[in-house]
Parts: sequence; C-alpha cells; structure tokens
Amino acid sequence: MRMHAIITGGSSGIGLATARLLSARGATVSLLARGAARLEAAAQEIGAHSRAVDVSDEAALTTALQELEGLGGPCDVLISCAGLARPGRFLELEPAVFREMIEVDYFGTLYAIRAVAPGMVERGRGSIVAVSSAAGLLGIYGYSAYGPAKFAVRGLMESLRAELTPHGVHVGVVFPPDVDTPQLADENRFKPAETFAISGTIKPLSPEAVAASIVLGIDKRRFLICPDTGTKLLARLGGVLAPVLNWSFDRKVRSVTPGSAGARRADRR
Ligand SMILES: NC(=O)c1ccc[n+]([C@@H]2O[C@H](COP(=O)([O-])OP(=O)(O)OC[C@H]3O[C@@H](n4cnc5c(N)ncnc54)[C@H](OP(=O)(O)O)[C@@H]3O)[C@@H](O)[C@H]2O)c1
Repeated sequence: MRMHAIITGGSSGIGLATARLLSARGATVSLLARGAARLEAAAQEIGAHSRAVDVSDEAALTTALQELEGLGGPCDVLISCAGLARPGRFLELEPAVFREMIEVDYFGTLYAIRAVAPGMVERGRGSIVAVSSAAGLLGIYGYSAYGPAKFAVRGLMESLRAELTPHGVHVGVVFPPDVDTPQLADENRFKPAETFAISGTIKPLSPEAVAASIVLGIDKRRFLICPDTGTKLLARLGGVLAPVLNWSFDRKVRSVTPGSAGARRADRR
C-alpha cells in the first residue's frame, strides 16, 4: 500500500513544496489549510485529498484528519507545517497576537499529533514531523509572540521523541531559518527595523530546499532537521553560542535604536 502523508499548511510555501516532493515519490498526500481556493488548487495540482480547516479548532481538525485517513488510509507521515508569524516589539504588540501564535503554531501542532499518534503507536510505525523555526532556538528581538510558540513546539517534540520512539514512531522537528514564502513576505510587513538589522542580510532559503531536508530527515529518521549550517550549529550548540550571538545582535539593535542610559548600564553588567 502507498504511504499516506498528511501535511497541515500544505497549500503554500514549505508545506506545499514538501507535498510536491512526497507526491512525486509516489505517496498518497492529504493537505489541510484554511483558505479553500488555494488549498483546492494545490490539491488538484498534485492529486491530493484535502480539507479546509483551522488547525487551532481541535474538534474540526480531528474530524478532518479522520476523514482524510478514511480516504487515504492510516496516516504514515504527519507533517505539521501550518503556522503564522507576527513579529513586533513586545511593548507594541496587541495582546491577541500572543494568544494567536500559541493557538495556531503550538496547539495546531499538538492537536494534529494527538489525532494521529495513537494509531501510529498501535501500528508500531509512522513518522511525525513538526516545523518549528530558528526563532524556536534563540530569543530574537521582535519575536516575543512567535518565538515562544516555536520554543513550545520544540519542547513538545523533545518529549515526544522520548515517548514515541520506543513504539516505533519517528519524531522530528524542523528549524528553518528565513525561507522565501508568502509567510516571510507577510512577516516582513510587521518586522521592526531592529529585527531586519539582525536577519535582513541573510538570504532566505527556497521552500524546495527546506522540503528536501524534511524528506531526507524522514528517510533517515532524524530528530533534528536543520536545513542550513546556521540552524544546525544553533540547534546543537545554542547554549554555548547564545552569549556571542546576543552580543552581536545587541550591537545591531543599538545601531538602529541607541537605547537609554539605563539600558547601556544594564548591558555592561
Ligand atoms: N518562511 C519562513 O521564513 C519560516 C521560517 C521558519 C519557520 N517557518 C514555519 O514554517 C511553516 C510554514 O510556513 P511557510 O513559510 O511555508 O508559510 P506559508 O507559505 O504562508 O504557508 C503557511 C501554510 O499554513 C496554513 N495556515 C496558516 N494558518 C493556519 C491555520 N490557522 N489553520 C490551518 N492552516 C493554516 C496556510 O494556509 P491558510 O492561510 O489558507 O490557512 C498555508 O498553507 C510555519 O509553521 C512557519 O512558522 C517559516
């Protein structure tokens, strides 16, 4: 029987590139996202099943996943890619943004996994991969709402690796840096100048490159799926590198906003 891969956020960017790759390898693919038009176009292009759903709605997502398993067979691979990023300065962000990031990026991932993991454990096989972010490895200026949600995804996957691997289920977590997708274009509209100063000079990866690293990570049953050298170093040596990176990023932030005398005194401590 063909492998059934289910991808949340499969109508665009990294999710769609991964769906194309898995479909080209002969997998049965199912896609989920909210916007029906873009979703249907993607599903038609690759011959996938699809359901329009908001991943932060647990009941609707669980039903959609059950229906997709009814159509394509039990889920062999779940890729939780649906996500949103809304940067902004902590003191200026609307309270609703903090909640939305957690609800979509974290709970959207948790609910999808809760729906398919029991079946995988029962069958003693399967692969669950969640997309976190470089912002889930290091606290970065401007990501006080998005970063914690992606840190939570990483924490969840670390626990699941320990719990589900003994049942034959592969667990992986992806840490993309900036990737050239509609999300990045949208995010850039809200990025403070300081966040641009930190990351603006780094050339974004293509969604196809990230998709290739996800599929390789599944093939090799890797836990850490890092599409570039920077995130690989950060994922493995984050604690060691953090003081140096923070020093460099703080300098870039100061080049945009010189800061108060109090802040400069606190920095030197
Ligand atoms: N692009 C980057 O620089 C970057 C870097 C690190 C990590 N990431 C992460 O990579 C993942 C994919 O992002 P991308 O860059 O490929 O973005 P994208 O092209 O905007 O795709 C996001 C996908 O998620 C879906 N989605 C968003 N909110 C949803 C919700 N509440 N319920 C269901 N589906 C939802 C979108 O469809 P609808 O809007 O129609 O629902 C779309 O299919 C995200 O988790 C993102 O945080 C991206």
